Amino acid sequence: MREHDIIIIGGGLAGSRAAVEIKRTNPNLDVAIVAKTHPIRSHSVAAQGGIAAVLKNVDPEDSWESHAFDTVKGSDYLADQDAVEILTKEAPNVIIDLEHMGVLFSRLEDGRIAQRAFGGHAHKRTCYAADKTGHAILHELVNNLRRYGVEIYDEWYVMQLIQEEGSAKGIVMYRIEDGAIEIVRAKAIMLATGGYGRVFNTTSNDYASTGDGLAMAAAAGIPLEDMEFVQFHPTGLYPVGVLISEAVRGEGAYLRNANGDRFMENYAPNQMELAPRDITSRAINLEIRAGRGVNSDGSAGGPFVHLDLRHMGKEKIMSRVPFCWEEAHRLVGVDAVHEPMPVRPTAHYSMGGIPVNTDGRVRLSADSLTEGLFAAGECACVSVHGGNRLGSNSLLECVVYGRRVGAAIARYVENRKLPQLDAAPYFNAATQRVKDLFDRTSGIRIAQLRQEFQDCMTEYCGVFRTEATMQEGLAKIQQLKAKYDRIYLDDKGDCWNTELIEAIELQSLMVVGEMILASAINRKESRGAHSREDYPQRDDANFLKHTLAYYSAAGIDVNWMPVVIDRFEPKERKY
Ligand code: FUM
Repeated sequence: MREHDIIIIGGGLAGSRAAVEIKRTNPNLDVAIVAKTHPIRSHSVAAQGGIAAVLKNVDPEDSWESHAFDTVKGSDYLADQDAVEILTKEAPNVIIDLEHMGVLFSRLEDGRIAQRAFGGHAHKRTCYAADKTGHAILHELVNNLRRYGVEIYDEWYVMQLIQEEGSAKGIVMYRIEDGAIEIVRAKAIMLATGGYGRVFNTTSNDYASTGDGLAMAAAAGIPLEDMEFVQFHPTGLYPVGVLISEAVRGEGAYLRNANGDRFMENYAPNQMELAPRDITSRAINLEIRAGRGVNSDGSAGGPFVHLDLRHMGKEKIMSRVPFCWEEAHRLVGVDAVHEPMPVRPTAHYSMGGIPVNTDGRVRLSADSLTEGLFAAGECACVSVHGGNRLGSNSLLECVVYGRRVGAAIARYVENRKLPQLDAAPYFNAATQRVKDLFDRTSGIRIAQLRQEFQDCMTEYCGVFRTEATMQEGLAKIQQLKAKYDRIYLDDKGDCWNTELIEAIELQSLMVVGEMILASAINRKESRGAHSREDYPQRDDANFLKHTLAYYSAAGIDVNWMPVVIDRFEPKERKY
């Protein structure tokens, strides 16, 4: 059996930053990253618009308290305020540290790091590298993994988290290159597996964002927190759904309906296009519903609205948001210097996830922790985003909490031995799981079932929700789960069997989808991104609390956990 002091599952921003911090804290620790893609191809690389931090380079009036307040207000008061304080206080330091690692941030004339406006932030505090910020940061972090001697198992798929009696002991991993299955034990395991955008049929996320870490944790008996809060980014490029960064609006672009009106005037008269994402996505959907969406021939009644950059001018477009211009040009043939881009909301981010304390220790319940298991980044819920995340706070969460959790893990393993582990039953179960899939010769195609599932989640649990639609969605998912037992693969080989990986990923997606629906049904109020047409008001008296949902094959159990409110009292949210 292989062994390491620490295994990190996921090579994106949170996982890579944690690995670097572990090695900086104790160079003797043996750290491995296991990832189903090469770390540089993690979805973090696609982050565009920026990373928030109070550097005061553009706006000297800014303060960490203001950043914290904007974050808590943006969260619709569901964020844990102790975690937000850490996020916003530590932000400037992590940016300077990234700068020292060599990250090429965009600059002001005087050479300091440039900062731009972003939705829901009262000051210009988002640092950026044009509109390829994730790319700039991840590349330097991955260079540092090499520098510090972190072992990388890239293109290994983790099939199972081994957790016995409340203690994480190891993982089961599958080498995509040749189908080898191995059990690895470790003193500590960190989940940094990112999001689950592929639960929906239109998403800004890459194909690998299938919620594997969440499903693995749920299968090991760990609850998932606040899964009902799914962020739909307002400006997905229509019809493909890829991200057109909020930076485009931060740099001055307008949203217009079929009449050419800047409709945000009616939804957020002060912040306009820079209102938080939950409000802006609802506004776009309401415009489309009211018949003021646009059709491809420019007529009214269509499925998208316009993002208009034309007044910004070519020089600004090409220097500040060149990648967004390129996406629209390449994917839908729109030259944004001369024409508006077609956009509509697209599934983008998970506010909920694996519950952790501010050191990244995974919770087993509201008042108990697992041993040996940590999480950070999008798969975790610490919770700094509550019901709705502000743009440019997610890269920040990855690096602030990646660093913090890395340091905590290095301290934790000092007093921990490698766990005793009988590998045979785990190896046999994983081998049997693959064999069962290979043995079937007919039935349902994976792509067909995945499409039905994604359509179901999109139709029954999208931007707007009701009890009736969600119950219908949940019933449909039960039928789709039964169909999963009839999927079959054409490829029964061991070499690069991506069809097999897709089959396992589909199971993760279905677990995550069911958890989202069950959690959303239980929250009978509207808060942040969870917008219920049958309960349109926020209800602090009954629901100012976190959801903790426990998965089992027999059904999902929903519990609650208190919110930490130690600085900002909940108020009505107006923009
Ligand atoms: O719009 C964007 O560039 C996305 C940023 C974010 O999700 O933080």
